[in-house]
Amino acid sequence: MSGRRFFVGGNFKMNGNKSSLDDIITNLNTVNSPETDVVVAPSPLYLDYVTNKITSQVKVAAQNCYKAAKGAYTGEVSPAMLSDVGVNWVILGHSERRHVFNESNELIGQKVKHALESGLSVIPCIGEKLDEREAGVTEQVVFEQMTFIKDNVEDWSKVVIAYEPVWAIGTGKTATPGQAQEVHEKLRKWLADNVSDDVSKSTRIIYGGSVNAGNCKELAKGKDIDGFLVGGASLKPEFLDIIKANA
Ligand code: G3P
Repeated sequence: MSGRRFFVGGNFKMNGNKSSLDDIITNLNTVNSPETDVVVAPSPLYLDYVTNKITSQVKVAAQNCYKAAKGAYTGEVSPAMLSDVGVNWVILGHSERRHVFNESNELIGQKVKHALESGLSVIPCIGEKLDEREAGVTEQVVFEQMTFIKDNVEDWSKVVIAYEPVWAIGTGKTATPGQAQEVHEKLRKWLADNVSDDVSKSTRIIYGGSVNAGNCKELAKGKDIDGFLVGGASLKPEFLDIIKANA
């Protein structure tokens, strides 16, 4: 046993409305997995709505935030605002923030720093693109991404790392259990080599990329796979099965 609590996140992305969220919340309010940490990340417009309707252990996360507390940043949301509505988790550096909205490693590191300093817990995302994997530079890519995260973290107890190979996100082409475990193991060794043995042993590293009820149990057997960050399947009833993947 790793001693690390299983962690399952649901990233709703830019999906849902009050009616569909009500159906999802009804399912989430049946969650009773005291050995597992569960968070869901609705679109920012619905953070307060979802937070006020969840009655179970499930926590709410934001999908992103900015690197400042307030100011002339039209369209942005600050960690202080998230705390104000009872949201204490935030996903940062998701591949869509990196590759659709061109967020750099440096900006993501600054966001991680400010979110942690503001009292939030963070889920920084890393992962290689298909051409990078095919070129054999997966380690180089994810280690560089980790460096910008590591340089901005003091309290690792507030950090859950999400490894999400870009080529597996939304494609149905899930990494095999072997592919996922291989990178997770290398990330855990990277943490030991670049931070400390304690941080390496205690930090959760979760997998994301086409996780569903059919593949989650095999993936969860990976000794360095501590849970999942789920996209499409988190909007469906099968998300409850994924929460129980390590049971
Ligand atoms: O953040 C999780 C997400 O990127 C994974 O998406 O639909 O492949 O589970 P999906």
